[in-house]
Amino acid sequence: MVVGGLWLAVPFAAGQQRSAASNHPDTFGLGRAATAGEIEALDIDVRPDGTGLPAGQGTAADGARTWARACGGCHGQEGEGGTAAPVVGRDPSSRPPTVGNYWPYATTLYDYINRAMPRNAPGTLAADEVYGLVAWILAKNEIIATEAIMDAETLPKVAMPARSRFVRDDRRGGPEVR
Ligand code: HEC
Repeated sequence: MVVGGLWLAVPFAAGQQRSAASNHPDTFGLGRAATAGEIEALDIDVRPDGTGLPAGQGTAADGARTWARACGGCHGQEGEGGTAAPVVGRDPSSRPPTVGNYWPYATTLYDYINRAMPRNAPGTLAADEVYGLVAWILAKNEIIATEAIMDAETLPKVAMPARSRFVRDDRRGGPEVR
């Protein structure tokens, strides 16, 4: 384009469309599309109903070994808390709120541990190790039996003690919200 006799570089090539919603071109021509494998590696979320849980399994006995090695240093060897929060405790009045007295879904344990723990090396645990740790924490809270096997089938069926204390938020965001 010529403006005042000067040639200005335009940020999109001839023939490219500007998107209707903005003043930007549809592409800046940088980078490349992510591969299916790259997307899969990031696609780790686990929903409350268990959607997204991977293959694998573990029991509390499996988890105990991993806990001693990778978790107890911060959360206490029995999960009672240390420099980091406790993960064991059923009393609703105890603070801080934790797995046994607050978390409504057992599946969140898998999601959270898999993505965020151990805090100093997140993303390093294998699926079997995570299932074992989930089983260990649930058994310590006396929510599942010590020998129960946690996997993609059994974990979503675990009923959490605090589940009934949550109510569905059905507000629509209009004048009904006060
Ligand atoms: C380097 C310290 C550290 C290590 C090691 C660690 N954590 Fe954590 N963890 C934290 C911190 C910090 C939080 C956030 C809560 C807090 O501030 O205490 C947390 C939070 C959690 C929570 C949520 C607690 C709640 O109710 O909010 C769980 C569950 C958990 N960690 C499990 C694990 C497991 C399982 C391991 C071992 C694989 C592990 N953590 C290792 C520091 C650590």
